[in-house]
Amino acid sequence: LNITRIMLARRPVGLPQDDDFRWETVELPPVGDGQVLVDTLYLSVDPYMRDRMSEGPSYAPPQALGIVIAGTVLGRVRESRDSNFQPGELVLGGYGWQTGAVVPAASLRHVDTGPLAPTAALGVLGSTGVTGYLAMVEVGRPKPHDTVVVSAAAGAVGLVAAQTARNLGARVVGIAGSDAKCTYLTQHVGLEGAVNYKASDFTDQLDRACAQGVDVYFDNVGGPVTDAVLDRINRGARIAVCGQISQHAPAVSPPSSHLPVPTILLNHGATMQGFMVMNYASQAAAARATLARWVNDGQLVYTETTAEGFHETVAAFRSLFTGGNIGKQLVKVAD
Ligand SMILES: NC(=O)c1ccc[n+]([C@@H]2O[C@H](COP(=O)([O-])OP(=O)(O)OC[C@H]3O[C@@H](n4cnc5c(N)ncnc54)[C@H](OP(=O)(O)O)[C@@H]3O)[C@@H](O)[C@H]2O)c1
Repeated sequence: LNITRIMLARRPVGLPQDDDFRWETVELPPVGDGQVLVDTLYLSVDPYMRDRMSEGPSYAPPQALGIVIAGTVLGRVRESRDSNFQPGELVLGGYGWQTGAVVPAASLRHVDTGPLAPTAALGVLGSTGVTGYLAMVEVGRPKPHDTVVVSAAAGAVGLVAAQTARNLGARVVGIAGSDAKCTYLTQHVGLEGAVNYKASDFTDQLDRACAQGVDVYFDNVGGPVTDAVLDRINRGARIAVCGQISQHAPAVSPPSSHLPVPTILLNHGATMQGFMVMNYASQAAAARATLARWVNDGQLVYTETTAEGFHETVAAFRSLFTGGNIGKQLVKVAD
Protein backbone atom coordinates (compact mmCIF):
# COMPACT_ATOMS: atom_id res chain seq x y z
CA LEU A 1 0.00 0.00 0.00
CA ASN A 2 1.34 3.44 -0.95
CA ILE A 3 0.85 6.55 1.20
CA THR A 4 1.78 10.20 0.66
CA ARG A 5 3.50 12.23 3.37
CA ILE A 6 4.75 15.77 3.88
CA MET A 7 8.20 16.41 5.32
CA LEU A 8 9.89 19.60 6.46
CA ALA A 9 12.38 20.46 3.67
CA ARG A 10 13.78 23.69 5.14
CA ARG A 11 12.99 26.07 7.97
CA PRO A 12 10.38 28.67 6.93
CA VAL A 13 11.06 32.37 7.29
CA GLY A 14 7.82 34.15 8.17
CA LEU A 15 4.77 32.64 6.54
CA PRO A 16 5.44 29.01 5.48
CA GLN A 17 5.93 28.62 1.71
CA ASP A 18 5.20 25.60 -0.48
CA ASP A 19 8.94 25.04 -1.02
CA ASP A 20 9.46 24.64 2.72
CA PHE A 21 7.85 21.21 2.38
CA ARG A 22 8.69 18.06 0.44
CA TRP A 23 6.03 15.58 -0.60
CA GLU A 24 6.77 11.93 -1.18
CA THR A 25 4.88 8.75 -1.90
CA VAL A 26 6.24 5.60 -0.28
CA GLU A 27 5.19 2.02 0.20
CA LEU A 28 4.20 1.07 3.76
CA PRO A 29 6.02 -1.79 5.49
CA PRO A 30 4.05 -4.92 6.44
CA VAL A 31 2.16 -4.73 9.75
CA GLY A 32 4.21 -6.35 12.51
CA ASP A 33 3.14 -7.79 15.85
CA GLY A 34 1.68 -5.08 18.10
CA GLN A 35 1.29 -2.74 15.13
CA VAL A 36 -1.71 -1.22 13.39
CA LEU A 37 -2.20 0.11 9.85
CA VAL A 38 -4.30 3.29 9.97
CA ASP A 39 -5.89 5.23 7.10
CA THR A 40 -6.01 8.98 7.81
CA LEU A 41 -9.49 10.50 7.68
CA TYR A 42 -8.77 13.98 9.09
CA LEU A 43 -5.58 15.64 10.15
CA SER A 44 -5.04 18.62 12.40
CA VAL A 45 -3.01 21.70 11.45
CA ASP A 46 -1.96 23.78 14.46
CA PRO A 47 -0.05 27.01 15.12
CA TYR A 48 2.49 25.22 17.38
CA MET A 49 3.74 23.32 14.32
CA ARG A 50 5.07 26.60 12.91
CA ASP A 51 6.92 27.27 16.15
CA ARG A 52 8.55 23.85 15.92
CA MET A 53 9.65 24.54 12.34
CA SER A 54 12.06 27.22 13.67
CA GLU A 55 15.14 26.59 15.74
CA GLY A 56 14.69 29.35 18.33
CA PRO A 57 14.14 28.64 22.03
CA SER A 58 10.73 27.08 22.69
CA TYR A 59 9.01 24.73 25.11
CA ALA A 60 9.04 22.06 22.40
CA PRO A 61 12.15 20.79 20.58
CA PRO A 62 12.39 21.87 16.92
CA GLN A 63 11.03 19.57 14.25
CA ALA A 64 13.97 17.90 12.48
CA LEU A 65 14.41 18.49 8.74
CA GLY A 66 13.55 15.64 6.39
CA ILE A 67 10.96 13.96 8.57
CA VAL A 68 7.16 13.98 8.53
CA ILE A 69 5.48 16.98 10.19
CA ALA A 70 4.26 15.67 13.55
CA GLY A 71 0.64 16.19 14.59
CA THR A 72 -2.62 14.60 15.62
CA VAL A 73 -4.78 12.65 13.16
CA LEU A 74 -8.17 10.96 13.20
CA GLY A 75 -7.96 7.68 11.34
CA ARG A 76 -9.61 4.33 10.74
CA VAL A 77 -7.93 0.99 11.40
CA ARG A 78 -7.39 -0.92 8.15
CA GLU A 79 -5.37 -3.82 9.57
CA SER A 80 -4.39 -4.69 13.14
CA ARG A 81 -1.98 -7.08 14.78
CA ASP A 82 -2.93 -5.95 18.26
CA SER A 83 -5.95 -7.22 20.21
CA ASN A 84 -6.92 -3.70 21.39
CA PHE A 85 -7.76 -2.46 17.89
CA GLN A 86 -10.10 -3.95 15.30
CA PRO A 87 -10.37 -3.12 11.58
CA GLY A 88 -12.94 -0.36 10.97
CA GLU A 89 -12.45 1.30 14.37
CA LEU A 90 -11.79 5.04 14.61
CA VAL A 91 -8.56 6.02 16.37
CA LEU A 92 -6.53 9.09 17.26
CA GLY A 93 -2.87 8.95 16.33
CA GLY A 94 0.13 11.23 16.49
CA TYR A 95 1.81 10.29 13.21
CA GLY A 96 1.28 13.65 11.52
CA TRP A 97 0.89 14.76 7.93
CA GLN A 98 0.54 11.47 6.05
CA THR A 99 -2.37 9.71 4.40
CA GLY A 100 -1.78 6.54 6.41
CA ALA A 101 0.82 4.82 8.57
CA VAL A 102 1.86 1.62 10.28
CA VAL A 103 2.29 2.52 13.94
CA PRO A 104 2.67 0.84 17.33
CA ALA A 105 -0.75 0.14 18.86
CA ALA A 106 0.41 1.88 22.03
CA SER A 107 0.63 5.19 20.14
CA LEU A 108 -3.12 5.12 19.31
CA ARG A 109 -6.18 6.06 21.34
CA HIS A 110 -9.80 5.01 20.88
CA VAL A 111 -12.19 7.81 19.84
CA ASP A 112 -15.18 8.47 22.06
CA THR A 113 -17.03 11.68 21.25
CA GLY A 114 -20.48 10.42 22.31
CA PRO A 115 -23.18 12.16 20.27
CA LEU A 116 -20.68 14.60 18.72
CA ALA A 117 -18.99 14.01 15.37
CA PRO A 118 -15.68 12.10 15.64
CA THR A 119 -13.80 15.23 14.45
CA ALA A 120 -14.66 16.80 17.82
CA ALA A 121 -11.79 14.66 19.14
CA LEU A 122 -9.41 16.93 17.22
CA GLY A 123 -11.13 20.16 18.29
CA VAL A 124 -13.57 20.95 21.06
CA LEU A 125 -12.90 17.64 22.87
CA GLY A 126 -9.25 17.53 21.81
CA SER A 127 -6.26 19.44 23.04
CA THR A 128 -7.48 22.82 21.70
CA GLY A 129 -10.77 22.56 23.62
CA VAL A 130 -9.06 21.31 26.77
CA THR A 131 -6.53 24.15 26.49
CA GLY A 132 -9.19 26.84 26.13
CA TYR A 133 -11.13 25.50 29.10
CA LEU A 134 -8.27 24.75 31.51
CA ALA A 135 -6.17 27.85 30.79
CA MET A 136 -9.24 29.99 31.42
CA VAL A 137 -10.32 28.16 34.59
CA GLU A 138 -6.86 27.60 36.09
CA VAL A 139 -5.01 30.76 35.09
CA GLY A 140 -7.66 33.33 34.11
CA ARG A 141 -9.92 32.41 37.07
CA PRO A 142 -12.79 34.65 35.90
CA LYS A 143 -15.32 35.84 38.46
CA PRO A 144 -18.91 36.85 37.71
CA HIS A 145 -19.05 40.34 36.14
CA ASP A 146 -15.31 40.42 35.39
CA THR A 147 -14.42 41.79 31.99
CA VAL A 148 -12.55 39.01 30.19
CA VAL A 149 -10.79 39.64 26.87
CA VAL A 150 -9.82 36.73 24.60
CA SER A 151 -7.60 37.18 21.53
CA ALA A 152 -7.99 34.94 18.45
CA ALA A 153 -11.46 34.50 19.93
CA ALA A 154 -12.95 32.97 16.77
CA GLY A 155 -10.26 30.26 16.66
CA ALA A 156 -10.36 26.76 18.13
CA VAL A 157 -8.87 27.58 21.54
CA GLY A 158 -10.36 31.08 21.70
CA LEU A 159 -13.97 30.01 21.14
CA VAL A 160 -13.76 27.55 24.03
CA ALA A 161 -11.89 29.98 26.32
CA ALA A 162 -14.40 32.77 25.64
CA GLN A 163 -17.47 30.62 26.24
CA THR A 164 -15.94 29.07 29.37
CA ALA A 165 -15.59 32.55 30.90
CA ARG A 166 -19.09 33.48 29.75
CA ASN A 167 -20.51 30.29 31.29
CA LEU A 168 -18.78 31.24 34.57
CA GLY A 169 -20.64 34.56 34.61
CA ALA A 170 -18.06 36.94 33.15
CA ARG A 171 -18.59 39.64 30.51
CA VAL A 172 -16.54 38.46 27.56
CA VAL A 173 -15.07 40.55 24.77
CA GLY A 174 -13.48 38.67 21.86
CA ILE A 175 -10.79 40.03 19.57
CA ALA A 176 -10.66 38.76 15.98
CA GLY A 177 -9.31 39.79 12.61
CA SER A 178 -12.45 40.58 10.58
CA ASP A 179 -15.87 42.17 10.98
CA ALA A 180 -17.44 38.86 9.88
CA LYS A 181 -15.70 37.03 12.74
CA CYS A 182 -16.78 39.74 15.19
CA THR A 183 -20.39 39.43 14.06
CA TYR A 184 -20.11 35.66 14.44
CA LEU A 185 -18.82 36.10 18.00
CA THR A 186 -21.58 38.44 19.14
CA GLN A 187 -24.57 37.12 17.14
CA HIS A 188 -23.91 33.40 16.92
CA VAL A 189 -21.73 32.65 19.94
CA GLY A 190 -23.39 35.30 22.11
CA LEU A 191 -20.36 37.14 23.47
CA GLU A 192 -21.00 40.55 24.99
CA GLY A 193 -18.61 42.31 22.61
CA ALA A 194 -16.14 41.71 19.80
CA VAL A 195 -13.41 43.95 18.44
CA ASN A 196 -11.63 43.78 15.08
CA TYR A 197 -7.89 44.28 15.64
CA LYS A 198 -7.37 45.07 11.95
CA ALA A 199 -9.79 48.04 12.06
CA SER A 200 -8.17 51.50 12.07
CA ASP A 201 -10.08 52.38 15.27
CA PHE A 202 -9.16 49.11 17.06
CA THR A 203 -8.09 50.76 20.33
CA ASP A 204 -11.19 52.98 20.41
CA GLN A 205 -13.34 49.90 19.89
CA LEU A 206 -11.45 48.17 22.71
CA ASP A 207 -12.01 51.16 25.02
CA ARG A 208 -15.73 51.12 24.32
CA ALA A 209 -16.01 47.35 24.79
CA CYS A 210 -13.96 47.39 28.02
CA ALA A 211 -15.23 50.58 29.68
CA GLN A 212 -14.47 49.09 33.13
CA GLY A 213 -10.97 47.90 32.15
CA VAL A 214 -9.82 44.29 31.75
CA ASP A 215 -9.79 41.79 34.64
CA VAL A 216 -8.68 38.71 32.70
CA TYR A 217 -6.78 38.58 29.44
CA PHE A 218 -6.51 35.24 27.62
CA ASP A 219 -3.63 35.75 25.20
CA ASN A 220 -3.48 33.61 22.09
CA VAL A 221 -1.55 36.03 19.91
CA GLY A 222 1.02 38.33 21.57
CA GLY A 223 2.40 41.33 19.66
CA PRO A 224 0.51 44.60 19.16
CA VAL A 225 -2.91 43.13 20.06
CA THR A 226 -1.58 42.07 23.45
CA ASP A 227 0.15 45.44 23.98
CA ALA A 228 -3.20 47.17 23.48
CA VAL A 229 -4.97 44.91 25.99
CA LEU A 230 -2.19 45.24 28.59
CA ASP A 231 -2.67 49.03 28.41
CA ARG A 232 -6.19 48.48 29.78
CA ILE A 233 -5.73 45.92 32.58
CA ASN A 234 -7.18 46.51 36.06
CA ARG A 235 -5.49 46.09 39.41
CA GLY A 236 -5.03 42.39 40.14
CA ALA A 237 -5.67 41.33 36.55
CA ARG A 238 -4.83 37.75 35.55
CA ILE A 239 -3.18 37.13 32.21
CA ALA A 240 -3.15 33.61 30.78
CA VAL A 241 -0.45 33.34 28.14
CA CYS A 242 -1.68 30.53 25.95
CA GLY A 243 -0.18 31.32 22.56
CA GLN A 244 1.86 33.89 20.67
CA ILE A 245 0.87 33.24 17.09
CA SER A 246 1.90 36.71 15.93
CA GLN A 247 5.46 35.79 16.86
CA HIS A 248 5.47 32.43 15.03
CA ALA A 249 5.61 34.02 11.59
CA PRO A 250 7.42 37.26 12.45
CA ALA A 251 7.63 38.57 8.91
CA VAL A 252 3.90 39.25 8.99
CA SER A 253 3.90 41.05 12.35
CA PRO A 254 5.65 44.33 13.21
CA PRO A 255 7.85 44.31 16.32
CA SER A 256 6.37 45.88 19.44
CA SER A 257 7.52 49.25 20.83
CA HIS A 258 5.99 49.28 24.26
CA LEU A 259 6.54 49.47 28.01
CA PRO A 260 8.23 46.22 29.08
CA VAL A 261 5.60 43.70 30.19
CA PRO A 262 7.14 43.29 33.70
CA THR A 263 6.69 47.06 34.24
CA ILE A 264 3.04 46.83 33.23
CA LEU A 265 2.53 43.90 35.62
CA LEU A 266 4.21 45.79 38.46
CA ASN A 267 2.13 48.94 37.92
CA HIS A 268 -1.10 46.95 38.18
CA GLY A 269 -0.17 44.23 40.68
CA ALA A 270 -1.20 41.85 37.90
CA THR A 271 -0.33 38.17 37.42
CA MET A 272 0.76 36.65 34.14
CA GLN A 273 1.28 32.93 33.75
CA GLY A 274 2.24 30.75 30.86
CA PHE A 275 -0.04 27.78 30.23
CA MET A 276 1.05 24.46 28.70
CA VAL A 277 -1.72 21.93 28.21
CA MET A 278 0.62 18.95 28.68
CA ASN A 279 1.19 20.04 32.30
CA TYR A 280 -2.52 19.56 33.03
CA ALA A 281 -2.94 16.00 31.70
CA SER A 282 -4.56 14.80 34.92
CA GLN A 283 -7.38 17.34 34.46
CA ALA A 284 -8.00 16.71 30.76
CA ALA A 285 -10.68 14.01 31.13
CA ALA A 286 -12.75 16.13 33.51
CA ALA A 287 -12.36 19.13 31.18
CA ARG A 288 -13.54 17.05 28.19
CA ALA A 289 -16.58 15.88 30.20
CA THR A 290 -17.55 19.47 31.05
CA LEU A 291 -17.07 20.59 27.44
CA ALA A 292 -19.17 17.68 26.11
CA ARG A 293 -21.95 18.51 28.59
CA TRP A 294 -21.88 22.21 27.62
CA VAL A 295 -22.10 21.34 23.91
CA ASN A 296 -25.04 18.99 24.58
CA ASP A 297 -26.81 21.61 26.73
CA GLY A 298 -26.36 24.29 24.07
CA GLN A 299 -24.01 26.29 26.31
CA LEU A 300 -21.03 25.91 24.03
CA VAL A 301 -21.03 26.59 20.31
CA TYR A 302 -18.21 25.03 18.35
CA THR A 303 -17.35 24.97 14.71
CA GLU A 304 -14.77 23.60 12.31
CA THR A 305 -13.24 24.86 9.08
CA THR A 306 -12.46 21.89 6.86
CA ALA A 307 -10.10 21.92 3.88
CA GLU A 308 -10.99 19.20 1.38
CA GLY A 309 -8.17 16.85 0.41
CA PHE A 310 -4.65 16.03 1.61
CA HIS A 311 -3.22 18.26 -1.14
CA GLU A 312 -4.72 21.25 0.76
CA THR A 313 -2.71 20.55 3.95
CA VAL A 314 -0.03 23.23 3.54
CA ALA A 315 -2.56 25.86 2.41
CA ALA A 316 -4.79 25.04 5.40
CA PHE A 317 -1.80 25.32 7.73
CA ARG A 318 -0.81 28.67 6.21
CA SER A 319 -4.34 30.02 6.58
CA LEU A 320 -4.00 29.83 10.38
CA PHE A 321 -1.57 32.75 10.09
CA THR A 322 -3.83 34.79 7.81
CA GLY A 323 -7.03 34.13 9.75
CA GLY A 324 -8.75 31.91 7.18
CA ASN A 325 -10.37 29.68 9.79
CA ILE A 326 -13.28 29.95 12.21
CA GLY A 327 -13.01 27.33 14.95
CA LYS A 328 -10.81 24.28 14.52
CA GLN A 329 -8.97 24.05 11.20
CA LEU A 330 -8.99 20.48 9.87
CA VAL A 331 -7.98 18.79 6.64
CA LYS A 332 -10.28 16.06 5.36
CA VAL A 333 -8.15 13.33 3.79
CA ALA A 334 -10.68 10.53 3.22
CA ASP A 335 -14.28 9.50 4.04
N1 LIG B 1 -0.39 26.60 25.59
C1 LIG B 1 -0.91 25.51 25.11
O1 LIG B 1 -0.87 24.46 25.72
C2 LIG B 1 -1.58 25.60 23.76
C3 LIG B 1 -2.31 24.53 23.22
C4 LIG B 1 -2.97 24.70 21.98
C5 LIG B 1 -2.86 25.93 21.32
N2 LIG B 1 -2.12 26.94 21.86
C6 LIG B 1 -2.02 28.25 21.21
O2 LIG B 1 -3.31 28.82 21.16
C7 LIG B 1 -3.39 29.73 20.06
C8 LIG B 1 -4.62 29.40 19.22
O3 LIG B 1 -4.44 28.12 18.65
P1 LIG B 1 -5.59 27.43 17.79
O4 LIG B 1 -5.15 26.08 17.47
O5 LIG B 1 -6.89 27.64 18.46
O6 LIG B 1 -5.57 28.30 16.44
P2 LIG B 1 -6.74 29.21 15.90
O7 LIG B 1 -6.99 30.29 16.90
O8 LIG B 1 -7.88 28.35 15.48
O9 LIG B 1 -6.10 29.83 14.58
C9 LIG B 1 -5.18 30.85 14.65
C10 LIG B 1 -5.87 32.23 14.60
O10 LIG B 1 -4.94 33.22 15.04
C11 LIG B 1 -5.28 34.47 14.47
N3 LIG B 1 -4.02 35.14 14.08
C12 LIG B 1 -3.11 34.71 13.18
N4 LIG B 1 -2.07 35.57 13.11
C13 LIG B 1 -2.35 36.58 13.97
C14 LIG B 1 -1.66 37.78 14.35
N5 LIG B 1 -0.47 38.14 13.81
N6 LIG B 1 -2.24 38.58 15.29
C15 LIG B 1 -3.43 38.25 15.85
N7 LIG B 1 -4.13 37.13 15.52
C16 LIG B 1 -3.59 36.30 14.60
C17 LIG B 1 -6.16 34.17 13.24
O11 LIG B 1 -7.46 34.70 13.46
P3 LIG B 1 -7.82 36.26 13.13
O12 LIG B 1 -8.65 36.24 11.87
O13 LIG B 1 -8.60 36.67 14.33
O14 LIG B 1 -6.53 36.99 12.94
C18 LIG B 1 -6.25 32.65 13.18
O15 LIG B 1 -7.53 32.19 12.83
C19 LIG B 1 -2.08 29.58 19.28
O16 LIG B 1 -1.22 30.64 19.63
C20 LIG B 1 -1.54 28.25 19.77
O17 LIG B 1 -0.15 28.18 19.68
C21 LIG B 1 -1.49 26.79 23.06
